[in-house]
Amino acid sequence: MFNKKIGVLTSGGDAPGMNNAIAAIVKTCKYNNAGVVGVNYGYRGLLNGDIFDIDNMNTDDIINRGGTILGSARCLEFKDPENVKKAVEVAKQHGIGGMIVIGGDGSFRGARDLSLAGLPTIGIPATIDNDISCTEYTIGYDTALNTVIDCVDKINDTMRSHNRSAFVEVMGNKAGYLAVEVAIACGADAVLVAEQNFDIEKNIVDVIARKYEEKKHFIVIVAEGVEKVSGKSTKKIMNETVEMIDKKYGIQLDAKLTVLGHIQRGGKPTYKDRIAASRMGSDAVKLLINGIGNRVVALKHGKIVDYDILEGLEMKKSIEDELLMLSKIICEK
Ligand code: F6P
Repeated sequence: MFNKKIGVLTSGGDAPGMNNAIAAIVKTCKYNNAGVVGVNYGYRGLLNGDIFDIDNMNTDDIINRGGTILGSARCLEFKDPENVKKAVEVAKQHGIGGMIVIGGDGSFRGARDLSLAGLPTIGIPATIDNDISCTEYTIGYDTALNTVIDCVDKINDTMRSHNRSAFVEVMGNKAGYLAVEVAIACGADAVLVAEQNFDIEKNIVDVIARKYEEKKHFIVIVAEGVEKVSGKSTKKIMNETVEMIDKKYGIQLDAKLTVLGHIQRGGKPTYKDRIAASRMGSDAVKLLINGIGNRVVALKHGKIVDYDILEGLEMKKSIEDELLMLSKIICEK
């Protein structure tokens, strides 16, 4: 029997579904007669001892809410090994014998450090970016995808009415998963991601000019990571497109920029996120109860698996070629 408490914290950018993971952790602890405590505001809360009994909370009321009831933070102080040691001490003082960290790969580095410093810790992947290599799915991605699809469809309605062209910047950090899948789902005319070199003339200007006979409204999706690799903001890409298409083809585009921003991180979790988060949360507790720490739970071919955190952090993944090819077909034709 696990006779210490299990602690849970959320860290990094929040993601819809985090609350479902928390609820599943609480219920699985209760089911196994293990105590459970919540840590507010990620690693910062752990360092400050901002810890409370969560096991008598009615978690049924949180599972349809976006965000995280525990609050989240990006805690740079946690990179300092002295602070990691301090966090382990604080955890011990609160009777915590195992931690569960729900967040992205930056948060997993903290989870690895806690484990190495003697506190068994399990990572649960949650980020709207879907960019954690050891798992094919991260909690929050599906909700964000549906939010962005809804926004782009709405933008498209008004673009169509006014013969305008929208340049829509979507989140994803350095990864282009959201951008590529949204482009396919919304029938965009071009999509730019950091993972692929692009040429404004070939990938946007010539494509729009070729389609101009049949329609006069266009959607260009730009992943936020593009600016990091090309140095060009979405606004600059839009302005260069407008200038070039006028010069080369005599077409005057009425272009509008939308940076979707944090709307992409909010909202009720979808079915997919609720179920993935519940499964991962429950599995994380089972690992700790069985005396297993320093693992990250993941989804592989639809099944829950777990990896050593170090091994998980070293894995690499990239957008499948088949998906990139499909986006090219959808956008260009
Ligand atoms: O990792 C999630 C994410 O929303 C990224 O897509 C984005 O680049 C970043 O977080 C934004 O972070 P913040 O909310 O701290 O501005």
